[in-house]
Amino acid sequence: MPTSTPFPASEPPLILGMMRLLDHPDLCQPQALARWIRARIDEGLSVFDHADIYGDGQCERIFGEALASDPGLQREIRVITKAGIVPAHLDASRWGTKHYRAEAHYLTDAIDSALSRLQVEQIDTFLIHRPDPLMAADRVAQALERAVAAGKVRQIGVSNFLPDQWRWLQRHTNLPLICNQCELSLAHTAPLFDGTLEAHLADNLRWLAWSPLGGGALGQAIPDTLMKAAGQETGLCETGLAIAWLRQLPGRPVPVLGSLRAARIQGALEGARKDLPRPLWYALLEAVRDQAVP
Ligand SMILES: NC(=O)c1ccc[n+]([C@@H]2O[C@H](COP(=O)([O-])OP(=O)(O)OC[C@H]3O[C@@H](n4cnc5c(N)ncnc54)[C@H](OP(=O)(O)O)[C@@H]3O)[C@@H](O)[C@H]2O)c1
Repeated sequence: MPTSTPFPASEPPLILGMMRLLDHPDLCQPQALARWIRARIDEGLSVFDHADIYGDGQCERIFGEALASDPGLQREIRVITKAGIVPAHLDASRWGTKHYRAEAHYLTDAIDSALSRLQVEQIDTFLIHRPDPLMAADRVAQALERAVAAGKVRQIGVSNFLPDQWRWLQRHTNLPLICNQCELSLAHTAPLFDGTLEAHLADNLRWLAWSPLGGGALGQAIPDTLMKAAGQETGLCETGLAIAWLRQLPGRPVPVLGSLRAARIQGALEGARKDLPRPLWYALLEAVRDQAVP
């Protein structure tokens, strides 16, 4: 039988991603979203993941209005947010092109804007959203240090960085990079076979795994018969199996779940508490990769 593991008090079993908030008009009213946030806190989930580009700032703004509608709520949650991507439709230049801006002054302004939209006193964790080949690591590091020293940001990290990219930034600051938010799931297993997972462990960067359910694509990737048998053996639904599979990796990556549906969040929580039998873990891997374990 699978074993249950308690979570250390300081570590969230899941982070709730807010990228899809606008897909849920029922949650886009402040009081309704505040009730939803409270229900998550009651489940032990209090970390929420944002980015300035989600809904062009709308997701952060609506979340901030929800916090403002329920005094006290702000102190019970922690917010991650990211900046550094300019979508094509927000590029005011004649080129109208999507581009990255890991630039000191741009990130400094982005932090202030995020604080204002989210209506929080501090961003718990601020991430550079994408590696930017034009980044001046020394100046960016100084800007992040200033934000931390000013109390605007508690800790810093990166997103979608390769090991040499985060190591270059880390060389320019004594502040530890806490995490790297990168894609990882049964639908995206390549980082388990190219040393990326081990680089996170060696450098003590917590892996925050985005799209842990493959954005909803796992149902097609795993044969029904396997999913059913795995469910019978573990008592987990499809969502729970995907999360258990992810959490079993060394370093226990923290899934950044994209579903806002209570039932799916519950399934994910059940998965986060269980370890899969090792042969089942490999059977799921074999199924999604469509190749036998050599
Ligand atoms: N750092 C980055 O570059 C980056 C990139 C992408 C995302 N993110 C973060 O990661 C979070 C999660 O990303 P994600 O939303 O792609 O993650 P996800 O949890 O893998 O996918 C959630 C989506 O899959 C659907 N889904 C899950 N299981 C399903 C099933 N069995 N049948 C049908 N649909 C199913 C959900 O639908 P329902 O809503 O119906 O449950 C929802 O639309 C985002 O909110 C964001 O915070 C970060």
